[in-house]
Amino acid sequence: MTDNIKTFGVIGAGQMGNGIAQVAATSGLNVIMNDISEAFVEKGLANITKLLTRGVDKGRMSAEEKDAVLGRIRTSVNIGDMAEADFVVEAATENETLKFKIFKDLDEACAAPVILASNTSSIPIGRIAAQTSRPDKVIGMHFMNPVPVMRLVEVIRGLATEEETFKTTWDLAGKFGKTPAEANDYPGFIANRILLPMINEAVYCLYHGVGKAEDIDTVMKLGMNHPMGPLALADLIGLDTCLAIMETLYNGFKDSKYRPCPLLRKYVEAGWLGRKTGRGFYEYQ
Ligand code: CAA
Repeated sequence: MTDNIKTFGVIGAGQMGNGIAQVAATSGLNVIMNDISEAFVEKGLANITKLLTRGVDKGRMSAEEKDAVLGRIRTSVNIGDMAEADFVVEAATENETLKFKIFKDLDEACAAPVILASNTSSIPIGRIAAQTSRPDKVIGMHFMNPVPVMRLVEVIRGLATEEETFKTTWDLAGKFGKTPAEANDYPGFIANRILLPMINEAVYCLYHGVGKAEDIDTVMKLGMNHPMGPLALADLIGLDTCLAIMETLYNGFKDSKYRPCPLLRKYVEAGWLGRKTGRGFYEYQ
């Protein structure tokens, strides 16, 4: 199923996009990593180089393998370059208008049989697919952050996604060394339908003064054996992304249990987006 995929396109060179590009290139595919500016793709490539160098230092790969992986990654600031790709994953900012535009452009640029996947955390796949002339070839391929470390890929079927598209995407996740899990197309799918209300509730605990950030995280780390506390995890994901997902859940189900915590919104409005801006629930160097 995946034998015909030689060149893999990634739209977005941010924390998800560059992670996806890294795992795809490590699996042996040629990768085109695209973003809107040279500065963004350079930053993405620098992060991949840093992580691969760490892999060499830790004895996980040789310096030659690292060079070969980097040699397979080409950067691009022109979405038309995706004409060369055999499979494309979009990992742009979690914004519906932006993603719709990208899918329209990809639909124009890519050959008819090419699968167009979205790494969206919560926007319905059917809505994205409807922007294209190939809804049967549109699917959700949802990687977890940090992509090189996390083993899961959630594969989401849209209403029109055809079986072959699903199988190819499923197999590709396996080729990347990930374990796929299947979800249907409802807001938040499985991962974020469960994870984000927990994070939102942790923000409510902070908002209501039930506990300080450190104590909320300690409770979940030591009491529930989570690898990191929900507020530290929110900082890792990005508070803007967390808010966008809660809005999608709230708007999608019209159920008040998904209302985003006002404190989360306040942080986002202040530009305190977590690790990427140096400040969220915690401060970062
Ligand atoms: N990028 C790449 N690698 C990273 C990394 C990053 N941002 N952060 C940590 N790592 C690597 C480290 O380099 C280290 O690898 P080596 O030492 O073998 O080189 C390894 O991960 C372990 O890191 P640490 O020892 O520093 O710390 P840790 O043991 O606490 O692990 C963690 C860090 C993997 C992030 C772990 O805390 C964890 O699993 N946290 C939960 C992550 C999670 O829940 N992710 C899902 C988010 S939700 C999502 O992504 C979906 C969405 O749509 C919002």
